[in-house]
Amino acid sequence: MIIGIDIGSTITKVVSIRENTVINRVKARATDAVTSATGAFGKLILENDIDIKDIQKINITGVGASRIRGNIFGIETRKVDEFSSIGIGAMFQVQRENIVIANIGTGTVLIYANKQKITHIGGSGVGGGTILGLAKKLIQTNTFNGIMDLAAGGDLSHVDLLLEDIMETELSFLGRESTAANFGKILDTAKNEDIALAILNMVYQVIGMLSVFAAQGKGSAGVVVTGSGSDNPIGKKTLDVISGMYGINFEFPAYAEYTTAIGAGLIETP
Ligand SMILES: Nc1ncnc2c1ncn2[C@@H]1O[C@H](COP(=O)(O)OP(=O)(O)OP(=O)(O)O)[C@@H](O)[C@H]1O
Ligand SMILES: [Mg+2]
Repeated sequence: MIIGIDIGSTITKVVSIRENTVINRVKARATDAVTSATGAFGKLILENDIDIKDIQKINITGVGASRIRGNIFGIETRKVDEFSSIGIGAMFQVQRENIVIANIGTGTVLIYANKQKITHIGGSGVGGGTILGLAKKLIQTNTFNGIMDLAAGGDLSHVDLLLEDIMETELSFLGRESTAANFGKILDTAKNEDIALAILNMVYQVIGMLSVFAAQGKGSAGVVVTGSGSDNPIGKKTLDVISGMYGINFEFPAYAEYTTAIGAGLIETP
């Protein structure tokens, strides 16, 4: 059995892998790197009755990996590259290569992956952390569920400037309901529901457009979306609209918050 640990900026993910199959998954809030990694690993061992002697090695990655020195509990522990982990994890999940990946975590990273090479295309500081940070100040809500509940009752036309607000016709391939400026019209009467929806919409529009340009640049017809931000029904709807406009398909693998941890576990180490 191999263990993959991804110590992200916000959440630590741990998976166990045996013969190319993911067996167990656990996550924990990344308070400090050492506590969250050992805590999540311990939880995975205890909850699943794993015999520690069955573990051949541990591969760790993510921003917190540099804080872990030496072996964990005497098991051979190696640090592996985060971007390679995302690429390998995503190729494993969709069972394809030559893919563009948008990993939506606390921030967002764009990767191109094939079997020979994994390339870091670039990224954006706009991601899950942006949603939480803006929501905390603008609508005094700091849980994801709270934001999603509010957003369900929101109306974007109370916050965003839409093309139909400023022109009578369509513009190029943009319909009249397209966004002209996120937050560009915010009404004095805009409710927390409207603002919650507008924050989510803005973040996923930015990520969606960056993904489209990355996919076009690589001649790819689709983008695999990973990270905790992959599993967001409102974000998915925003990406759906972009997909319809630009002909780029977004794919959401199951357990996409574990992509990086899975890829870390699958990386061959010397
Ligand atoms: N359903 C959701 N939709 C969008 N974002 C979410 C959701 N659930 C959690 N998040 C946000 O996703 C972020 C964590 O995602 P993830 O676990 O992929 O990141 P990380 O690995 O900790 O960070 P990074 O990879 O950027 O270092 C947090 O900012 C969290 O608020
Ligand atoms: Mg991450």
